[in-house]
Amino acid sequence: MNERPFAHSVLILFAHPALQKSRVNRQLMHAVRDLEGVTFHDLYEAYPDFHIDVRREQDLLDQHDIIVFQYPLYWFSVPALLKMWEELVLEHKWAYGKEGVALRGKKLMSALSTGGRESLFCREGFNRCTIREYLEPVEQLARICGMEYLPPFVIHGTNELTGPEIGRHADDYRRVIEAVRDNRIDWEAARSFPRLNTDLDAVIRK
Ligand SMILES: Cc1cc2nc3c(=O)[nH]c(=O)nc-3n(C[C@H](O)[C@H](O)[C@H](O)COP(=O)(O)O)c2cc1C
Repeated sequence: MNERPFAHSVLILFAHPALQKSRVNRQLMHAVRDLEGVTFHDLYEAYPDFHIDVRREQDLLDQHDIIVFQYPLYWFSVPALLKMWEELVLEHKWAYGKEGVALRGKKLMSALSTGGRESLFCREGFNRCTIREYLEPVEQLARICGMEYLPPFVIHGTNELTGPEIGRHADDYRRVIEAVRDNRIDWEAARSFPRLNTDLDAVIRK
């Protein structure tokens, strides 16, 4: 019997401070939360009082190969509870430092939505930086912990999205998470795009 039916185990760390108002991440959540081989972990649901159980979180990280941070971009950063999670869970001598090897060889991916349109995220645009530049703190965190940082799944311009468009993004997200789990992403091809979901047919193998 095959004990591990999937190539990778995926842990989605979901952080939305106001889920009751969410249009986009709520649908994305419903698209992936019941996938086999995927653990969906809603941080604001688990820790409404911000008392993070560090050992439980480290155990979850131990049990998975691929970690996904899913969140809406808030003030060009991760929401506060996810930032706190980074500060408390990724301990010295566990996640980084000479003896901190727990995360080495794992992969980290960001999956986020932004109110701002894609055209704003460039040198000449209102936001002055690309989305990859805004994600650099997460990318550097991954490097320091010995993890590979994967190209991000990004949905821009959320305020202008219609219901059917959000539905298509949710389908894409499910496709990506399944492909990550089954090791069907061509990462070299994905790296040539600003975000993973620019052209899914070009990056997901059948
Ligand atoms: C407090 C707050 C801060 C936000 N900061 C940003 C931001 O820095 N850049 C941006 O493009 N959108 C920003 N937005 C818009 C959210 O990213 C957008 O509403 C969200 O991605 C939509 O997803 P949802 O429907 O799941 O909430 C912000 C929204 C709120 C409420």
